[in-house]
Amino acid sequence: FEAKKTQGTGKAPVNIALSKYWGKRDIELNLPLNGSVSISLPGLGTETEISLIEAAEDKVLLNNEPLPAEHAFAKRVSKFLDLFRGGDNQHFAINTYNSVPTAAGLASSASGYAALVLALNDLFDWQLNGQQLSLLARLGSGSASRSLFNGFALWHKGENENGLDSFAEAIDTKWPEFCIGLVEVDIKEKPLSSTQGMQNTVNTCDLYQAWPEQANRDMQSIIEAIQTKDFAALGKTAEHNALSMHATMIATWPPIVYWQAESVTAMHKVWQLREQGIEIFFTMDAGPNLKLLFLEKQKPAIKQAFGDIRIIEPFKD
Ligand code: PMV
Repeated sequence: FEAKKTQGTGKAPVNIALSKYWGKRDIELNLPLNGSVSISLPGLGTETEISLIEAAEDKVLLNNEPLPAEHAFAKRVSKFLDLFRGGDNQHFAINTYNSVPTAAGLASSASGYAALVLALNDLFDWQLNGQQLSLLARLGSGSASRSLFNGFALWHKGENENGLDSFAEAIDTKWPEFCIGLVEVDIKEKPLSSTQGMQNTVNTCDLYQAWPEQANRDMQSIIEAIQTKDFAALGKTAEHNALSMHATMIATWPPIVYWQAESVTAMHKVWQLREQGIEIFFTMDAGPNLKLLFLEKQKPAIKQAFGDIRIIEPFKD
């Protein structure tokens, strides 16, 4: 490819899956065993600058800090960039700024690969559309396919083995009252990558057999709940979906337990609030943090119960 300018830039939000992706049918192409639906968190995400350099290897900076070439993050980025090199000796300088802690279950890889693809699109002036960008971002990290869009996004599992029909698209519904609260239990790097975790689950968890079917059903229910703005149905399905995914993780060998004691304490708090009639649900990813789902009118009650947590309003921020 030929660079059309000296530097390309890209910016993308993190996203939280409301019905999750867990399990790949193709590891190289990041093809999922089930579809998923997410909501993007504007204001939290990644900004990336990329340029072509005369050098023997890529230069990867994370939050302005140069990484050694053998660093896991730098290696993964360089492997992804291999897909786009004009020749073996074409190298890139990449500077990535994350406004979320890297690899803490807050999906920094999702916003990271989406921002990187947008930066490449800018550098090479490909002028790709959302679906095409989503497809490329998927090759970096599955959940990145959903980070090209604001608001709700739907990642189609796809049927093709070449992956050309496995991309995400925006769901065209705005829900201004929709809120997400971040309960940060621990922001340390997660002990096990989601790729490794998924493979272990697919290979050793008997419960996993039930997952793809439930996940696809949940995905349909969530899409319907978004379209009809049925918050109770959305919250219930999202929480049940997340706990079912974690059940398959726990039933994996060796077990994958991302929860910490404080995660379970926070879950009980959510259930107590629900018993008091407050409509609040949670979801969790490959980490110990909870993401609370609620509508704007519940903000005071949530603040009272959880203190000064970060609240994001995806359609207002
Ligand atoms: O895209 P990955 O490899 O980071 O996997 C993401 C997996 C979950 O966050 C647990 C679920 C999801 O759909 O985002």
